[in-house]
Amino acid sequence: MEGPTVRMINQPLLPHRFEVVDLADHHATAASIRTMIVRGAGAIGATAGYAMAQAALEAPDASFHAFVGEAAERVQATRPTAQNLFFAVRAVLRAVEAEGSDLTRARAAAMAAAQEIADDDARCCEAIGRHGAPLILTGARVSTHCNAGWLAFVDWGSALSPVYVAAREGRRPFVWVDETRPRSQGARLTALELANEGVDHAVIADNATGHLMRTGQVDLVIVGSDRIAANGDVANKIGTYSSAVVAAANGVPFYVAAPTTTIDSDCPSGEHIPIEERGEEEVCYTWGWSDDGVFARVRTTPTGSHAHNPAFDVTPARYVAGIITEKGVVPASPEGIAQVVRR
Ligand code: MRU
Repeated sequence: MEGPTVRMINQPLLPHRFEVVDLADHHATAASIRTMIVRGAGAIGATAGYAMAQAALEAPDASFHAFVGEAAERVQATRPTAQNLFFAVRAVLRAVEAEGSDLTRARAAAMAAAQEIADDDARCCEAIGRHGAPLILTGARVSTHCNAGWLAFVDWGSALSPVYVAAREGRRPFVWVDETRPRSQGARLTALELANEGVDHAVIADNATGHLMRTGQVDLVIVGSDRIAANGDVANKIGTYSSAVVAAANGVPFYVAAPTTTIDSDCPSGEHIPIEERGEEEVCYTWGWSDDGVFARVRTTPTGSHAHNPAFDVTPARYVAGIITEKGVVPASPEGIAQVVRR
């Protein structure tokens, strides 16, 4: 954030074009979450915090608390599944409310709370890397789904952070990158990150994962999460559940990496996690860069065909070997979650 402006990488243009967008007010910043200019649990949370700080700066003195309250509703309505978004909005609201009617202090508190959310995310993800890296032995072949790296957080990432630490420690991990249709966050973003980090990897079609696991070509799976229920059930990008079931069928350990800000202790089980449904055009069309340098949207389905597009799924806790958090690796169980949850 620079003054009242939030600056953001325009992720839909990656990996072919790097562009930073300026978001002048909280409406624009909320829209950037809804349209997925920014995406990924931690990045959404940090952005939501800054949107709330912008709202506090914009709010007229005469209707300060009503204005900030409406902004909170607006930001929370952008995307339903990522818990970090709700964590961030509530954290900024608490900071503002603690200052009562002193609006100068309330605005400063909102700014400080937003900055702390972003800084906390970076610290947590760095610690996730340290706790998760020992799971990756020399030359291990890691499977991951979607993008849970530094583009999805403030820094480091969740699922990819242990990979980056293991790589820096010289253990030469190899990563199977699920393409992650329909928006291809794996093919576009995870592959870009791994290439930048010098980590050996190959992008695979999502439906290749089962074959690779059955033929002994995957040593472990590490994925991120958008929301973790109090019983250890995990919501993550659509396709994660299939990967977890196939991993279990083939004796491949399946880990979830997430900061504790992703835990929703009010949510008893995965049945209660809201699953975002997105537009059918994401399935019917794909975006890409032609060899002539043209960025284009092309339709892959017949014009008369409709599509269905759930964006997340829930993996039951019994498939999860452990949850890698900033406080250590804990079992995906009520007891494990209770050990690390923030009160
Ligand atoms: O829809 P997205 O791209 O915001 O999806 C969220 C994710 O990035 C993933 O589900 C990820 O694996 C876990 S959160 C970084």
